[in-house]
Amino acid sequence: MELDRNTQLNIQNFVKSLTKADEAEIQNYIYEIQEDHKFHDSIAAKANTGSGEKPFSFRMLAVDVSSRTALYVLCRTLKPNVVVETGVASGMSSSFILRALDKNAKGKLYSIDVPWHTVKNIWQHNPDDAVIHEQPIETKSGWIIPDRLRDRWDLTLGKTSEKLPPLLEKIAPVDVFFHDSAHTYENMVWEFQTIWPNLRKGGVMMAHNINKHSAFADFEKSVGGTSFKLSGLNNDGREMFSGGKAKA
Ligand SMILES: C[S@@+](CC[C@H](N)C(=O)[O-])C[C@H]1O[C@@H](n2cnc3c(N)ncnc32)[C@H](O)[C@@H]1O
Repeated sequence: MELDRNTQLNIQNFVKSLTKADEAEIQNYIYEIQEDHKFHDSIAAKANTGSGEKPFSFRMLAVDVSSRTALYVLCRTLKPNVVVETGVASGMSSSFILRALDKNAKGKLYSIDVPWHTVKNIWQHNPDDAVIHEQPIETKSGWIIPDRLRDRWDLTLGKTSEKLPPLLEKIAPVDVFFHDSAHTYENMVWEFQTIWPNLRKGGVMMAHNINKHSAFADFEKSVGGTSFKLSGLNNDGREMFSGGKAKA
């Protein structure tokens, strides 16, 4: 995985703003994940399924390279005990978080997901579905996660609106939260409002696709403090933004 200089600087500024870590440390972690060939090879091996066509949940839904790298670097920098993510699909963001926890030799990732397969079936009448070729693998949330990283992973299947509150009762306070489930205004604001009181001081909340509407900006206004934006290109070349907010 090679990141151009601009992308590296973008990630560095984002993580520095959220953690106050020093630039050399952040740069080291960016370098570390770029050079982690064993990790990238195991993801590539899982992504290359028998049919030769990469599954949709990896090709189109996986979080952009800047955001997945930022998640890795954030988790390396903060050394979290408890990470929560909503929205798994193939498990690209989960894999980067889990690799960071593995390197830290501590922490656990709790993920919540409605399997992409189920959501796809609900979308069946959308003409964009013409590009979706179902593969058996799509029924399994996190199918791309390298096997040796799964010990630190706890997956809950179901809607975040039902599963997040009871999960938080068991595991809070949370050190790092990442939203990448349903990007409706209502769901995003609800997840932010639900996680915020359960985030420890100094903890970080990060959300993908914040440019879809004003949910992230509105939440920021309601709790005060500063948020930081990270831009990246999705798999189809569209610019996306992730937002990050640290709890003071
Ligand atoms: C954009 S994809 C996640 C991509 C993933 N973070 C990655 O980097 O590979 C969104 C996932 O959230 C799931 N999802 C959609 N609505 C949800 C909800 N209300 N609760 C939980 N998961 C949901 C989808 O089925 C899909 O698996």
